[in-house]
Amino acid sequence: MAKLIEGKIVAKKILENLSDEILFLEKKPCLAVIIAGDDAASKIYVNSKKKKAEELGIKSVVIELPQNCTQQEILEKIYTLNNDDSVNGILVQLPLPPQINAKEVVEKIHPLKDVDGLHPYNLGQIAAGNKPHAYPCTPKGIIRLLEYYDISIAGKHAVIIGRSNLVGRPLSLMLLNENATVTVCHSKTKNLSQITQQADILVSAAGQRGLVKADMVKDGAVVIDVGINRQEDGKLCGDVDFWGAEPRASYITPVPGGVGPMTICSLMQNTFDLYKIQNKI
Ligand code: GUN
Repeated sequence: MAKLIEGKIVAKKILENLSDEILFLEKKPCLAVIIAGDDAASKIYVNSKKKKAEELGIKSVVIELPQNCTQQEILEKIYTLNNDDSVNGILVQLPLPPQINAKEVVEKIHPLKDVDGLHPYNLGQIAAGNKPHAYPCTPKGIIRLLEYYDISIAGKHAVIIGRSNLVGRPLSLMLLNENATVTVCHSKTKNLSQITQQADILVSAAGQRGLVKADMVKDGAVVIDVGINRQEDGKLCGDVDFWGAEPRASYITPVPGGVGPMTICSLMQNTFDLYKIQNKI
């Protein structure tokens, strides 16, 4: 039987400490979020980011743009926020409407305000084995969970399913920097289950319900489920067959309450860290 990795509880502890630190600041950190379009899930995510920021005493500014907004409109908002000293972190909620070039948008955020850690400067620093201004939030949350549960990374075979810029790609580099042996699998990977069966640490970030079946999990593996999917009954579920994998795993994250709360926790921590860098604290 696996030990449950309770991200919800870990995130709460980290945020309590962060809230105490923010309490004593005269000038509060400020997070700006740009949301463009009508994506329902994005609206929910942005609302929960705003709510969490406010609970902690972080100011939050949400800039809403319509589904038919232009590249120029988004870039102008970013220029304004880049030059506004009262704003410490800028997050552009993804996905963006199809007419928008998301790559260019992310590249125009000042790297010192890139609270998502997605700017090529910050990703490049991670790829070079250096410290970025901010680490991408979900990978940072996963590493913190492993640390919290005293799960060693060095020398382990970490298998990641998914190569997105938000999760799989940066996480692979961050685990490599922690001396794991890393394999990245994706939609074109052949013999996926043969590879996952070798994983000491198995991370699924594919967003595909039922992808990771019990027989794909090695005995004693640490299973991290980043997927957020809906079951037929409308309930949230991950990529992993939780009840199939749980008897084999040594540790496993639930969905919800596993990785999700850590992502938002990292976002708040990143906002505070960028505030400190910008204010030379
Ligand atoms: N969409 C889904 N997750 C994220 C995230 O962590 N950051 C941004 N900017 N967009 C997202």
